[in-house]
Amino acid sequence: MAEPAPDFDALFAVAQAVQRRAYAPYSRFRVGAALLADDGAVYAGCNVENAAYPSGSCAEQGAISALIAGGAKAIRAILVFGEGEALVTPCGACRQRIREFAPPDTPVAIAGPEGIRARFTLDALLPASFGPENLRP
Ligand code: THU
Repeated sequence: MAEPAPDFDALFAVAQAVQRRAYAPYSRFRVGAALLADDGAVYAGCNVENAAYPSGSCAEQGAISALIAGGAKAIRAILVFGEGEALVTPCGACRQRIREFAPPDTPVAIAGPEGIRARFTLDALLPASFGPENLRP
């Protein structure tokens, strides 16, 4: 049976709520991410910066950690929430982190306070990607 379409309204509400909890005293750029997982649950993360700047972590990274720690195995849909004029698309490293747990056709929605601004597939953000399958002999 076909899977139900992801509930992006629910992902938006979760990402917006967790974005407020971001720890971003250095960039002042708070980001929230919500992941719909294969177990049907929604996992959330926010960016957590550090006085030693490179030790900070992205919202997507935190949400992936929550998903794995929660016992889920795969990402079905993603929503990233941020403020500012430009799209808050995942950084290159996070695209690869997402790829580990998401097939290329996974929807990635980018949202601002007014709602969803753009939708991509993971493959559009990270074409010809290297994933777990590429390691198989
Ligand atoms: N950031 C994220 O958490 N996710 C993104 O998709 C883009 C950028 C964070 C990293 C850093 O804490 C701040 O936003 C500014 O780059």
